Amino acid sequence: MRILGIETSCDETAASVVERDAQGKGHILSDVVLSQIEDHAPYGGVVPEIAARAHVEALDSLVKQALAQANLELDDIDAIAATAGPGLIGGLIVGLMTAKAIAMAADKPFYAINHLEGHALTARLTDGISFPYLLLLVSGGHTQMVLVRGLGDYERLGTTIDDALGEAFDKTAKLLGLPYPGGPAVEKAALEGNASRFILPRPLKGEARLDFSFSGLKTAVRQTATEIAPLSEQDVADICAAFQEAVADTLSDRVSRSLKRFKQDFPDKEMPELVVAGGVAANKRLRSALEELCDSHGFHFIAPPHALCTDNAAMIAWAGAERAMSMEASSLDVAPRSRWPLDEKSAPLIGTGRRGAKA
Ligand code: KG4
Ligand code: ZN
Repeated sequence: MRILGIETSCDETAASVVERDAQGKGHILSDVVLSQIEDHAPYGGVVPEIAARAHVEALDSLVKQALAQANLELDDIDAIAATAGPGLIGGLIVGLMTAKAIAMAADKPFYAINHLEGHALTARLTDGISFPYLLLLVSGGHTQMVLVRGLGDYERLGTTIDDALGEAFDKTAKLLGLPYPGGPAVEKAALEGNASRFILPRPLKGEARLDFSFSGLKTAVRQTATEIAPLSEQDVADICAAFQEAVADTLSDRVSRSLKRFKQDFPDKEMPELVVAGGVAANKRLRSALEELCDSHGFHFIAPPHALCTDNAAMIAWAGAERAMSMEASSLDVAPRSRWPLDEKSAPLIGTGRRGAKA
């Protein structure tokens, strides 16, 4: 089965063709992503209007490129999948309408996909892992620990009660005069820094709940920076190093609780998996902290290749392929949803993420 996937929920326009073979293994035949980062950089964040317009301009040609790179015609495709939410509504409309139009014109089944489900199932495409497993999603819009029990069966164990982790990196970078997106800039500066010069707080560390919090850390960065201003390059590096250490420490504490909970709930699953996804998963310090944590708790640490951790359409095509095996196609009436929790039973937490719609 071959699926064409389309992703337009935030600032990446993406199209991809993925094949699911008879053994259930996935193969990425093409994966085209056009990042709009340069369009948004002058504003220090994603501007919804600019994003929607850029999707309109790029999507048709990206779909053509995805088919051409896979060496296929539309006729060779078995189904179309597109992100229907959560995300910025203008972009979602562009992707969803395009996918529906293609499905209708070519008379193919259509699957409306939850973007978070795309992230959640990626490790089944890349590593062929089986349910259940844990997913830590850390991006600019989300910080969530999700128990992936099965297809369409997700339990949100914990989420941020204020800022998303990528957002905390971005805000810290902005405070310190580093460029957008902040994560890579903070990580680079931290390499030259002394992490023990400043001791920053570890929000929620030691608490029994499985949630995350990062806004106090960002406030502490602001206070520290204000106290010692004007900042030298070394001051910035030292603050970045202290920030990253505080994040690694509190993240390890929070995640360790979910690992223990998983072991209690699934005592028979040998070497279960913790999967990371989202742009923050690129951070080497955080990766090594999570790797160490997994080693000590008897978990496999799975970090899909960077291009598949950040927003892409291969994960949407793959989620479509998984759904097509056991579920009915979506109706062409399906509406985009700017908010669409993976776990509809979990109450939304107030104030979660400035760009809360974004994953
Ligand atoms: O998943 P992603 O590419 O986009 C969405 O949020 O949908 O994640 C982007 C976020 C940004 O906040 C960025 O600063 C952060 O991921 N990020 C990082 C690193 N690379 C990207 N954060 C920490 N360290 C990094 N190396
Ligand atoms: Zn995402």
